[in-house]
Amino acid sequence: MEKKRLTIAYAEYGSVAELPEEYRQLMEAAMAATENAYAPYSQFHVGAAVRLADGTVVPGSNQENIAYPSGLCAERTALFSASARYPQLAVEALAVVGFHEGGFCEASPCGACRQVMAEYELRYGNEITVLCYLEGGRIRQISGVKSLLPFAFEAEL
Ligand code: THU
Repeated sequence: MEKKRLTIAYAEYGSVAELPEEYRQLMEAAMAATENAYAPYSQFHVGAAVRLADGTVVPGSNQENIAYPSGLCAERTALFSASARYPQLAVEALAVVGFHEGGFCEASPCGACRQVMAEYELRYGNEITVLCYLEGGRIRQISGVKSLLPFAFEAEL
């Protein structure tokens, strides 16, 4: 038996204002997208935005349903919307943020959204940079879904 250790690298910015211009715009698009969330059951509004290879920004927000599992997270709403409209453009970055009880709050992609991001990385052959809004307004930047979803399912079907 051989014990191994996995190290996950990530960076943090002190605020949205400190982000490089293109990422600041992406996070601001995610913040704006929280306004279009449909979240009558959780009251937790999530906004996401993906940046494509040519700079196009596609927003998404969580869309809930009375049959709870039928709803969809903000991240997959944005990713699927981008893929449906611009299938030829690689997804390069995704920003996500929550809005609850009058203020922005932390949000980090769920496992299912990470699996979908992993698929787009394979499909387009590039890593996706993920920006998460953290409590207090800091921003976490993780480059590559492998860091978010280690040992992900892969198969040649
Ligand atoms: N949600 C997202 O949209 N993205 C996440 O990363 C986590 C959770 C949504 C699902 C549900 O509508 C609400 O947030 C509460 O879980």
